[in-house]
Amino acid sequence: MKILITGGAGFIGSNLTRRLLKEKHVVTVIDDLSTGSMENIKDFKENKHFHFELGSILDIDILEKVIKPVDLVFHLAAAVGVEYIINNPLKSIEINVQGTENVLKLSHKYKKKVILASTSEVYGKNGNDTLSENDDRILGSTTISRWSYSNTKALDEFLALAYYHEKKLPVVIFRLFNTTGPGQVGDYGMVVPRFVKQALLEKPLTVYGSGDQTRCFTHIYDVINALLPLMTNEKCLGEIFNIGNPQEVSINALAEAVMRKADSSSQIIRHSYDEVMGKNFEDMKRRVPNIDKIKKFTGWSPTLSLDNIIDDVIKYNKETLRF
Ligand SMILES: NC(=O)c1ccc[n+]([C@@H]2O[C@H](COP(=O)([O-])OP(=O)(O)OC[C@H]3O[C@@H](n4cnc5c(N)ncnc54)[C@H](O)[C@@H]3O)[C@@H](O)[C@H]2O)c1
Repeated sequence: MKILITGGAGFIGSNLTRRLLKEKHVVTVIDDLSTGSMENIKDFKENKHFHFELGSILDIDILEKVIKPVDLVFHLAAAVGVEYIINNPLKSIEINVQGTENVLKLSHKYKKKVILASTSEVYGKNGNDTLSENDDRILGSTTISRWSYSNTKALDEFLALAYYHEKKLPVVIFRLFNTTGPGQVGDYGMVVPRFVKQALLEKPLTVYGSGDQTRCFTHIYDVINALLPLMTNEKCLGEIFNIGNPQEVSINALAEAVMRKADSSSQIIRHSYDEVMGKNFEDMKRRVPNIDKIKKFTGWSPTLSLDNIIDDVIKYNKETLRF
C-alpha cells in the first residue's frame, strides 16, 4: 500500500515507518519537526520507498499534495506530552483540532482510509480498575490546561466518527496508553526516558507529586504490532480501540527499578506538581487499560513487560548517548 504517516518523524511514527517499509509498503511522512526529528528517520532516507515532506498539517496545500496519491493515512501528528501542552496551550489546540479536521476533510475528498491516534487522556480522571472504550470521561475545570489535550483528542474522535457515520469515510481510532521504549526522548514530560537519562548521568531522579500514582507502560514494539491489523481488518472500521499494557506500576517503584537496572547510585527527589507544572495542574491517580476489545477483534495483546522496556531504554541510551 501507499501510506501517509502524519507526524512520522516522531517517536511512534518513525517506528511505524520502519515497520511498514520492512513490510514493503511505500511510506510518505509529513512532519513539521516540532517535537519529531530527522534523526528519527535518517535510516530511511536512502530507501526509494520512503518520502519525506517537511510541512505542517495546518497547511492545506501541502497536506493535499501528500494525501492525494496514497491509499491510507495514519494520523499521528499532534501536540503531545503533558508538559508540552501546558507550555503551548494555544498551539496545541490548533494542531490537534484544526490539523485533524484538515486530515479528515482531505481524506474524505480523496476517499482515503484514516487510522487516527487518540489517547488514554480522553478518560481524564476516571480511576476505574480498568478503562474500557465506552467508559465515562471525567475531566477537571477548563482553567486546568492539561485537560485541553483530553478534549482536543476527544473532539478528534467525535469528528472521525461523524465522518464515518455521515460521510462513510472509513476510519479506525486507537487510544494509546503511555507508550515508551528505545528512541523516545524525555524532553516533553515522558517519564521513562527522563528517569533513565537521570539514572545514567547519576543525577537525581525527579518524581512529581508523591510518586504513589500508578501508570501502565506499553513497549513501542507491542504498539506497532497492534497497529498493523487495524489497516486491513474490515471489522475494525468505525471502532475505537484501547492499546496498552495493563501491568501497573507506581512512579516510585518505576524510579527504583530504573536505578537498579541502570546500576545507578542516584537519589530520588520529589517535586510538588506546583513546582513543575505550575499552580493549575491536576493529575490522575491511576489509568489502567482494558484491552479485551482489541484482543477480540485482532488477537493482539502485549508481549513485552516493564522490565523489557526499562532494559531496552537503558541499552538504547547507552548506545546512542542520546542524553
Ligand atoms: N507516546 C505516547 O505515550 C502516546 C500516548 C497517547 C497518545 N499518543 C499519540 O500518538 C501520536 C504520536 O505521538 P508520539 O509519542 O510519537 O509523539 P511525538 O511528539 O514523537 O510525535 C508527534 C509528531 O507530530 C509532529 N507534529 C506536531 N505538530 C505537527 C504539525 N502541525 N504538522 C506536522 N507534524 C506535526 C511532531 O513533529 C512529531 O514528529 C500522537 O497523536 C499522540 O497524541 C502518544
